[in-house]
Amino acid sequence: MTVDYPLLARQLAALLDTRDWLTNSAQTVAFLMQEIPELNWAGFYLQREPETLCLGPFQGKPACHPIPFGKGVCGAAARTRQTQRIDDVHAVADHIACDADSRSELVVPIVVQDRLWGVLDLDSPRRGRFSTDDQAGIEALVAVFAARTDLEQAH
Ligand code: SME
Repeated sequence: MTVDYPLLARQLAALLDTRDWLTNSAQTVAFLMQEIPELNWAGFYLQREPETLCLGPFQGKPACHPIPFGKGVCGAAARTRQTQRIDDVHAVADHIACDADSRSELVVPIVVQDRLWGVLDLDSPRRGRFSTDDQAGIEALVAVFAARTDLEQAH
C-alpha cells in the first residue's frame, strides 16, 4: 500500500501550529492514525525518568506502562537510538504484547541534544506492514514533529 509521505509531511507541518509538546504529540498520533492505513495503535512513549519509557498521548487500546529501556521493541529503540522495524512481533522474544491484534511494529527514537526524548510507536495488525519506504516516510514525519515542537522543555 503506497502512502504519499511527502504530502503527509506538509499536512502535518500545517497542523502543528503550537510549539507545545503535549498538544503537538496528541495531534500527531491522531493524524497518523487517520492517514496511515492498517494501524491499530499509534503513540508516544516519553523518557520522564531515567531509562524508563512513560506512556504518552496515543490512539488505540490502553497500553503498557512503564517500559524499561531493557525491555521490548520500544526499549530497544530507546537503548540503541535506532529505528526498530519488526515484520512479525511474534518472532521477537521480549516483545511486549499490549494489543493482541498487533503483528508488525515500527518504533522511531526521538533524540534532542543527545538526550532520548522518547519514541514514536506504531503497530499494525498486518504482518510485514512497514516497508523500508514506510520507515523512511515515518522517520520524516517524526522529524517534522521534532522540528515544530519545543522538546527541550520539561515533560
Ligand atoms: N510492543 C511494544 C510495547 C508497546 S505497545 O505495542 C503499545 C514493545 O514491545 O515495546
